Amino acid sequence: MEPLSIRPRRLRASAPLRRMVRETFLAPHNFIDPLFVVPGSGVGRTPIGSMPGVFQNTVDALRAEAEQVYKLGIPAVLLFGLPETKDDRASGAYADSGIIQRAVRALKADNPDLLVFTDVCLCEYMSHGHCGIVDGTRILNDPTLDLLARTAVSHAQAGADVVAPSDMMDGRVAAIRHALDAQGLSDTPILSYAAKYASAMYGPFREAADSTPQFGDRRSYQMDGANRREAMKEVDLDIAEGADMIMVKPALPYLDIIRDVRERTQLPVAAYNVSGEYAMLKAAAAQGWLDERAAALEVLTSIKRAGADIILTYHAKDAARWLREG
Ligand code: PBG
Ligand code: ZN
Repeated sequence: MEPLSIRPRRLRASAPLRRMVRETFLAPHNFIDPLFVVPGSGVGRTPIGSMPGVFQNTVDALRAEAEQVYKLGIPAVLLFGLPETKDDRASGAYADSGIIQRAVRALKADNPDLLVFTDVCLCEYMSHGHCGIVDGTRILNDPTLDLLARTAVSHAQAGADVVAPSDMMDGRVAAIRHALDAQGLSDTPILSYAAKYASAMYGPFREAADSTPQFGDRRSYQMDGANRREAMKEVDLDIAEGADMIMVKPALPYLDIIRDVRERTQLPVAAYNVSGEYAMLKAAAAQGWLDERAAALEVLTSIKRAGADIILTYHAKDAARWLREG
């Protein structure tokens, strides 16, 4: 036998050498920390059972949380709100005194340098828990656009840096763009949840955001997990409608889609490492079945390697600490 001339292991022989040839790096400046805000005062916060380490925060608690996030070098938070009351027009979503509007104003007053992204959707504010206006058992597309646009404008007027529509109605990016522009908010970017799949991975989130649909499911508006080409169609549409950044969601079961989108567009690509992905890892770690730190960093690295520039993750603070420790 000839001696081996090509030995990939040569470059794995020491830590400095491995680091020198490493292709993908995680950094806190690529993270966005999703946070939940609830009515009430004081620094009370309620733990979310299926998402250990994540809380429903009052505005006061949120301010403290946001300060920690910023100090860890994470540039942005994404806000989800739970309103005082729900109805069938999602009034709380676009009320000037709504929970998100109050939270955004407080965070921007505390620290104008922390980027505040807002999730633009109606499900948390609708009595039936769907992301649009309902007629019988149908989720209406076009009548919903007006409410989404009002919600996005109201968030931006409160000071949101970026609005992120997650509803999956057709035409919502254009509707939001036009409404923002008409209100003199042409500098507010849109991060579109372009390829958002109907996923079992949102289970824990629906406990956190109290947004479980009261009938049916979201399959008539969110994408079928079996479809790859269709994600390109959604992405092309959202770009044509004026999206500034594109999101794929969930992340881990859809790494191939993240790669496809990365190759499709010049826009920044975000991926949402969703609640169920977080919960799976937390549950296994709590059993001692895997090492949370190593597993979480491996997952986040895989999302970045697949092509995401930006990662929305409930592990943001932990990951920032782990990365700082080296
Ligand atoms: C609301 C929304 C959801 C998530 C983000 N925005 C839930 C859903 O579509 O049912 C999921 C986030 C997560 O699971 O972490 N439209
Ligand atoms: Zn929704």
